[in-house]
Amino acid sequence: MAAQILDGKALSQQVREEVKVEVDKLRGLGVRPGLHVVLVGDDPASAIYVRNKGRACEKVGINGVTHRLPKETTEEELLDLLGKLNADDEVDGVLVQLPLPGHISESRVNDAMDPARDVDGFLPVNLGRLLAGREGLVPCTPAGIIRLIDQSGTAIEGKRAVIIGRSIIVGKPVSLLLMQRHATITVCHSRTRELARLASEADILVAAIGRAKMVKGDWIKEGAVVIDVGMNRDENGKLCGDVDFDEAAGRAAWITPVPGGVGPMTIAYLLRNTVIACCARRGLPSPF
Ligand code: GUN
Repeated sequence: MAAQILDGKALSQQVREEVKVEVDKLRGLGVRPGLHVVLVGDDPASAIYVRNKGRACEKVGINGVTHRLPKETTEEELLDLLGKLNADDEVDGVLVQLPLPGHISESRVNDAMDPARDVDGFLPVNLGRLLAGREGLVPCTPAGIIRLIDQSGTAIEGKRAVIIGRSIIVGKPVSLLLMQRHATITVCHSRTRELARLASEADILVAAIGRAKMVKGDWIKEGAVVIDVGMNRDENGKLCGDVDFDEAAGRAAWITPVPGGVGPMTIAYLLRNTVIACCARRGLPSPF
């Protein structure tokens, strides 16, 4: 059986259109959502991500502002900028691109950020809300993953979901979202024993490890939904995921490609979170 492709590029376009409808409504009320992205240093991958975020804002009518700071920027200087953004009513979302240079403490930066503008959904307050099942800003990649699974027509309830990776950005929050949707979850990581056997029990497999093609075809249950969050280079320098796509596609029912799977969904959900934050900050009902 050849898997069907879960096309994140097409689905993210749909999400962007949904976002644009809401941005247009807000602009009709005289409100323009604003997203400020802060990039410290010159990591080439981060520079590409940040540029893509700026372009995506423009296309849906969000006021996207990028703050590019040199790699020598001190922690105090960064905290000072965050303080200014917190005091600016036109700023609805703030995102500090990770990774930060080693001399800047991520937790201090987090503590200086306003949870109401945390469009990444990484701050403890928003992660706590997610854990408690309350409304808040949900991390973008995990939210996009749930939308992709829903798009496949697979019912999540009662399914066995195996998540490989326990990061704050993906593994932990996507586990919570899947549990909220009544899946039975298993979270695996670098110290997990019998990883292949656990993976092969998954109806829904989420790979978020950051190792090229680590998940092999025989780790996949026949008919599974496979979500590949990886963004790696293979031995020939070609972009690839954490899953060996060609092998896995022979067994899965649905699989996300890399590129064109999870990646585009992350940006679309960032735009969506910016609109959610904008409405919540201004006392308007949530559009989504
Ligand atoms: N670096 C890699 N992914 C992300 C992300 O989703 N948000 C931020 N802020 N930085 C990242």
